Amino acid sequence: MAVLEIRKAGDKILKEPAAPVAKLDKRIRRLLDDMAQTMYDADGVGLAAPQVGVSSRIVVIDVGDGLIELINPVITETKGCMIGQEGCLSVPGVMGEVERYAEVAVEALDRYGKKIKVVGAEMLARALQHEIDHLEGILFIERANTISTQVQR
Ligand code: NI
Repeated sequence: MAVLEIRKAGDKILKEPAAPVAKLDKRIRRLLDDMAQTMYDADGVGLAAPQVGVSSRIVVIDVGDGLIELINPVITETKGCMIGQEGCLSVPGVMGEVERYAEVAVEALDRYGKKIKVVGAEMLARALQHEIDHLEGILFIERANTISTQVQR
């Protein structure tokens, strides 16, 4: 496994819609491993493939309940709404208040191509929506009502 370079806001790849994964092979499974390691190394709770320079619909998330790997994820159900603080490894030092669905259901493939469904509320729901936004080339700062910057140390 390897820690990959995280692309920062301003990088063109973060603005592009990512392509669906057509073939789930060893290369994709290695990318999933590297993405998880990169996310943990950066103390993040989620990471999308465009953030490591790969324009494919792949996401890893861990909000503290274990690693979730999603390939070609699609939000299929939504419920309610919530407002809360969000940050992004590609936008370091910036927090913003973003309105999201309170609960979402997401259908995707796992690393072996099996169909899976993830239902999340609160932090998981927020992470799912934030990461799937990355696959559409959308950063949270575009959705934020208010933005605050923190001093980098
Ligand atoms: Ni992000």
